[in-house]
Amino acid sequence: MSEDLRDWLGKVQSMEEVRTVEGADCGWEIGAITDLNGRRENAPALMFDKIKDYPPGFRVLSGAFLTPARVALTLGLPPKENTAGLLASLRAKLSQWEGGLDKTPPRKVKSGPVMENIRTGKKINVFEFPVPKWHESDGGRFIGTGHVVITRDPDTGSVNLGTYRVQAHDANTTGLHIAHGKHGWMHVKKYHDRGQPAPVALSVGHHPLVLCLGAAPVAADVDYSYLGAMMGKPFDVIEDDVTGLPIPADAEIVLVGWCPPDKTRTEGPFGEFTGYYASGARADWVIEVQKVYFRNNPILLGAPPGRGHSETSYYESLMASASLHNALDKAGVVNVKGVWTHEMGGGLFVVVCIKQTYGGHSKEAGLYALQLISRGNVTRRFVVVVDDDIEYTDLKDVVWAMSTRCDPEKNIDIIRGGRSTYLDPLIKKPAPAVVASRAIIDACKPWSWIKEFPEAISVSPETVKKVKTKWGEKLGL
Ligand SMILES: Cc1cc2nc3c(=O)[nH]c(=O)nc-3n(C[C@H](O)[C@H](O)[C@H](O)COP(=O)(O)O)c2cc1C
Repeated sequence: MSEDLRDWLGKVQSMEEVRTVEGADCGWEIGAITDLNGRRENAPALMFDKIKDYPPGFRVLSGAFLTPARVALTLGLPPKENTAGLLASLRAKLSQWEGGLDKTPPRKVKSGPVMENIRTGKKINVFEFPVPKWHESDGGRFIGTGHVVITRDPDTGSVNLGTYRVQAHDANTTGLHIAHGKHGWMHVKKYHDRGQPAPVALSVGHHPLVLCLGAAPVAADVDYSYLGAMMGKPFDVIEDDVTGLPIPADAEIVLVGWCPPDKTRTEGPFGEFTGYYASGARADWVIEVQKVYFRNNPILLGAPPGRGHSETSYYESLMASASLHNALDKAGVVNVKGVWTHEMGGGLFVVVCIKQTYGGHSKEAGLYALQLISRGNVTRRFVVVVDDDIEYTDLKDVVWAMSTRCDPEKNIDIIRGGRSTYLDPLIKKPAPAVVASRAIIDACKPWSWIKEFPEAISVSPETVKKVKTKWGEKLGL
């Protein structure tokens, strides 16, 4: 058996980081509570049970990743680290996972907990589960937010897991919204180009690591192996007899079906990762559900995007920052001390911290960071480059560096026509091209006179140590 959501919940319960909420409805209450919960510091995970109009035990979990401790637990990182510490550990893990994929191919099993209940034909009803309307102005109820969409390449047979939003349309039809070029999109399109329906499976409740993997642009042929590497042992899958796709054996709820080439339905709007409803409602693919598998007392995992700080923003910032840092190292940019894609920027705002080593170093770091694709982020708006005396994960210190070391006339470069996303609120729709400008803000001390640059006020590490020893306990320093 793979470790499942219930094992994870047991650990989170012992950390006293999960709260049960009873009696909420999925019209908008679960969404509103989830939104407000996600805006506060150190928020608990929320388990919604006894949901209005649903049998007890049919549950929804939100807020899985809201604290550094739960993110560390999920990713197998040391607990009680600060952000910089978690980033360092995660960078090492990423290399370890990528290097060990051949040891963790998925393990095929004949059955698993997900087969405890099966619905086919007229018995299928996706609203049998308490599917929330997550944001007040959403165009409907979205069953897929903390889920993965499982697809297959008809040419190579490789299987991809990607998180692409899924609206529940009616009893046996869902939507499927995938940005052009993503792995799942390429798989479905290949079937459609041949006039064939594409096989699709949706796992909508599972160990939160499955969501982490789904939201990461891992190569399409290694997704399940990557999941195994993250979990430390091969991941158990069952071959679904309708589509032939491998589905997680320990999942809570899995829907399988076909995405036909000739049908669409209006999808959205949906509150998106930028904090807006920028892509509106449009005709989009559908999935005709043929079979539903679910465990007794199933748990739907929700991770709706929010405005700035939200369900997945801290976790996604960690993943994006650690992988961009590794990518900068691999690209040969020297002395990168840290990278932080701030949660409020939804991946569009990146801080790169360097120890300036030669003339043009800050520009080089900025240009690479602007273009290198790291997990989940195909677009950027601002890259701010700072010196290594700046606390790069602390926006206050970054603003101080920008305000005192960046001369706008000389130190801001604009690159026009960069790749963007249809979800970019700055792109007016319908758009002839999905492109936007990007800026590098060089907030490093000017290299040509760095030695004469005014000394910054600071307390030396030696003095900090002495003062803390003498007064730390008394003053809580
Ligand atoms: C909660 C959440 C919702 C997402 N929704 C979408 C979506 O609707 N469409 C999309 O193309 N990407 C979406 N993404 C981003 C993709 O999951 C991400 O780009 C991932 O790398 C896609 O997998 P792939 O690289 O295998 O294509 C979402 C990510 C998260 C965390």
